[in-house]
Amino acid sequence: MIVINSKTQNPKAQHSLPFEQYPAFLMDVLDGLGKSQKEIPCKYFYDERGSTLFTAICQTTEYYITRTELQLLNKLLPDISSRLGAQATVIEYGSGEGRKIRELLTALQSPRAYVPIDISAEILFDASRRLKKEFPNLSIYPLMADYTAQITLPEEISGSGRRLVFFPGSTISNFTPAEAGQFLRNIRQFLDPGDGFLIGVDLLKSPNRLHQAYNDYDGVTAEFNLNLLRRINRELDGNFKLHQFEHYAFFNPRYSRIEMHLVSLIDQVVKVGGYQFSFRTGETIHTENSYKYSVDRVIHIGRDSGFRHEQVWIDEEKLFSVHFLTAV
Ligand code: AVJ
Repeated sequence: MIVINSKTQNPKAQHSLPFEQYPAFLMDVLDGLGKSQKEIPCKYFYDERGSTLFTAICQTTEYYITRTELQLLNKLLPDISSRLGAQATVIEYGSGEGRKIRELLTALQSPRAYVPIDISAEILFDASRRLKKEFPNLSIYPLMADYTAQITLPEEISGSGRRLVFFPGSTISNFTPAEAGQFLRNIRQFLDPGDGFLIGVDLLKSPNRLHQAYNDYDGVTAEFNLNLLRRINRELDGNFKLHQFEHYAFFNPRYSRIEMHLVSLIDQVVKVGGYQFSFRTGETIHTENSYKYSVDRVIHIGRDSGFRHEQVWIDEEKLFSVHFLTAV
């Protein structure tokens, strides 16, 4: 079999669309697999099955993030509620299945509007429909968007009451520190002084503890990682053989991050959308970074992005932190 390097192929020779007009997913995968360190952006984990698997990760014993954050939220929400007053508008990034938002909306005094933002349409609209039944007086404006790019908020939410941006689950961990700063500055732009920003951030801790959280015993995280290849096979006409790749997650102290990879177990050639990519034994596709923070780092990023750091809550084991910032 002749293996052509992806960079030397002429896309126009095989596809009717000009390369720039390929769907973003195909573009990103072809581009990422053409790099010397192969990579795929982690936002593509979240097709319907991926979102379900992520929910399952949150329920594993090893993944302390979700339950620790919920426990902290229960403690701090009354405080947030009195700070914000009545008629607040909540904007949530990465709303997913919407487990945490119920607690938040229940704690707030007659919240006015809720804008859930998520990349997965099915999950977003399903969750919004269910929520509307439980909070009939709340206006809900679901926004299907990739918030790694700039987003435009619906015009309907302008008006009285404070705004609160809610960014739970340490989703910020997927950004590089530079991207995280940019993200906070983007958010600051649509807030008025005094508006709030409530963010959950996973803390730097024992590498062994971190390692366990991304290598759960039941292999749910492994399944979540491998689901990316399944999705490529289905949506981009790929022929990855899943048993010829393995989930690999480790803590990289140089960058203070967990890295997830998919390791090729043999020398092999894989096709995606008509293109061929060769893998050597042990070669990896880098699929995710999850940066771990110190409280000081969060305080600094907040300050550098136009926020005042009001308060931080940390669990007894110092696993996780929730921060409340206000726009200056
Ligand atoms: C959604 C980015 C917070 O990094 O812990 C969980 C994603 N990946 N297990 C994380 C994830 C593997 C999660 N975040």
